[in-house]
Amino acid sequence: MVGHAVIGQHVAVTSLYIMAGPSTHASVSAEDPTMLLFISVVVGATIMVLVWLFRRGKDEGQGTEKQTGEKKGTGDNTSSKKGMTKVSKKKVFQDWKKGPTAPIYTHPELITSLKGHTGNITSGSYSANGKHFISAADDRSVLIWSTKEFGQQAHKSIRGNIEYDYASLVCWSPDSKAFIIHKHAGNAIEVYKVSKRSDGSVGNPQVALTFPQHNDIADVIALDIDINGRFIMSCNNKNELVLWNLKGEILQTVDPRHGDTYSAILSPCGRFIATTGFTPDVKIWFVKYSKEGNFEGVKRAYDLSGHNAGIYSCGINSDSTRMVSVSKDGTWKLFDTNIEFEKGQQPYLLLTGEYENKSEPAIIRLSPDGRTIAIASGNNLTFYSAVTGEKLNHIPKIYTGDILSIMFDPSNKMILTLGDRHVRVFHNVAGYIATIQDLKQSLQKATNSSMKDRIKQQIKEAEAALENIKKVTKN
Ligand SMILES: *[C@@H]1O[C@H](CO)[C@@H](O)[C@H](O)[C@H]1NC(C)=O
Ligand SMILES: *[C@@H]1O[C@H](CO)[C@@H](O)[C@H](O)[C@H]1NC(C)=O
Ligand SMILES: *[C@@H]1O[C@H](CO)[C@@H](O)[C@H](O)[C@H]1NC(C)=O
Repeated sequence: MVGHAVIGQHVAVTSLYIMAGPSTHASVSAEDPTMLLFISVVVGATIMVLVWLFRRGKDEGQGTEKQTGEKKGTGDNTSSKKGMTKVSKKKVFQDWKKGPTAPIYTHPELITSLKGHTGNITSGSYSANGKHFISAADDRSVLIWSTKEFGQQAHKSIRGNIEYDYASLVCWSPDSKAFIIHKHAGNAIEVYKVSKRSDGSVGNPQVALTFPQHNDIADVIALDIDINGRFIMSCNNKNELVLWNLKGEILQTVDPRHGDTYSAILSPCGRFIATTGFTPDVKIWFVKYSKEGNFEGVKRAYDLSGHNAGIYSCGINSDSTRMVSVSKDGTWKLFDTNIEFEKGQQPYLLLTGEYENKSEPAIIRLSPDGRTIAIASGNNLTFYSAVTGEKLNHIPKIYTGDILSIMFDPSNKMILTLGDRHVRVFHNVAGYIATIQDLKQSLQKATNSSMKDRIKQQIKEAEAALENIKKVTKN
C-alpha cells in the first residue's frame, strides 16, 4: 500500500508539472510569501487528490489492466507505470461523467439493449412497417432505431431534439414518415416530419405542427394514431378521451366514466378503443366511419366484465378478436371478442389466472397473433399462454427501476421492454411454445388428412425455430 502511494506521488508530481506548464511558472512571484504558502497548499492538496484518484482508479481498473496488457512488459518500469495511470484516470473520469454505473444486465434471451439516452426513457413506438423503433426520454431527445440492426452488436440511431421540453409519449404515424409526441411541459401534441435521405436512410426529424393545449391540469396517459391516419387519440387521467384530426382540431371528447382513468389503447385495426380505470370493467368503444371512410364518432360498444377491482391495463391482438386485462384483484383475464356486438353478442371469458404480485401495478399485452400474454409488474416480466393459461416464462429484474412499458414486435418474435435509460429487446420464447400448443390443439380438431399434414408440418417448423433460439440463447 505504501508502495502504491509512492508510485502515485511520483506520477502525480510529474503530471502536475506537465499540466502546470511553463506559463504558470513564469507568473509566480517568488518574493510573495503568502502566494508561496498558497501555492504549496494547493500543490499539496492536488497531490493528495491525485494519489487518492490513482489508488481508487487502480482498485477499480484492475480487471481492465489485466485485459489491456499492451502497457505491460513493454519498455521500462516508468512507462508501464505511466500507462497504468492513464488507464485508471480515464476510467475515473468516465465514472464522474456517468454517475454511479448501473450493473451490466445479462439474460440468455436478451437480443440487445438499445443504449443512447442520457435520461430516463418515457415512451416508445414501433413503426407500422416494423422497420423502425422510436424511443423518447426526459433528456429532450427521441432516438430512431433500425429494427434490422437489433441482432447486431452496435446500433446507430437518428436523434431528434425536443427543444426546451421532452416527449412523455411518442407514436409513429402509420406511413412511418412522421411521428407525434406529447410534450411534457408544453402539455401539447406535436407532429414531427421524418425526412428520407437520398440513400433511403432516415434524416433528422423536424417539427411540423404543434396542436393547441387541451387540458392543463390532467396528465395525458395515452397517445396513438389510427392505422389509416384518420384520427389521433389522446387520453388523460381525468376522464377525457380526446379524438383529434391531423390538423390539431378536436373531433370529439368522450368521458369514459372510470372515476380515474388508468389506461387507454387503440386497437391495431383502428376500429376499437379500450379504456380502463378505477371501475372493474374494461370499456370498449367503437369508432364509426362514414361510407367514404371518414371519422364519424366514437360510441360505446361493450364491456369486458368479471374483475372485482380496478383494472390497470388491457391488451388487444392484431384483428381485435382477443383482448386481455389485468386487475388490482390479482388476476388477468383473456376474452374472446370475435363477436357481432351490434347484434347484441357479448364477449366471453376464455381464460383467467393469477398474476405474480398483486400488490404491484401491472401492464398487460397480448401478442399480435393472440397466442401470448405478457405481464410486467415491478421490474419483472412474466409470460402466460393464451392457449392453455399456464405460465410459460419469467424474466426477473430487467431494470433497477420499474418496467415502464412493454410491446411485442409485429412479427410476434420479440418483446421490447422500456425502463431506466434503455430499451431491451428479448426473444419471445413463450410465443414459440404457445404457437406449438395452439397448432397441437388445431391438429386434434382437424377433420381430414390433408389438413392434418399441413398442421404437422407447421408444428415441425415451430419446433425447429424454438430449438434454434434455444441454441442461440445458450451461448
Ligand atoms: C411484491 O412486490 C413487493 C414490492 O416490490 C415486494 O416487496 C414483495 O416481496 C413482492 N411479493 C411477492 C410475493 O413477490
Ligand atoms: C420479481 O420476481 C422475483 C422472483 O424472480 C420476486 O422475488 C419479486 O418479488 C418479484 N417482484 C415483483 C414486483 O413482482
Ligand atoms: C379439410 O378440412 C378443411 C376444414 O377443416 C377444409 O377447409 C378442407 O376443404 C378439407 N379438405 C378436404 C380435402 O376435404
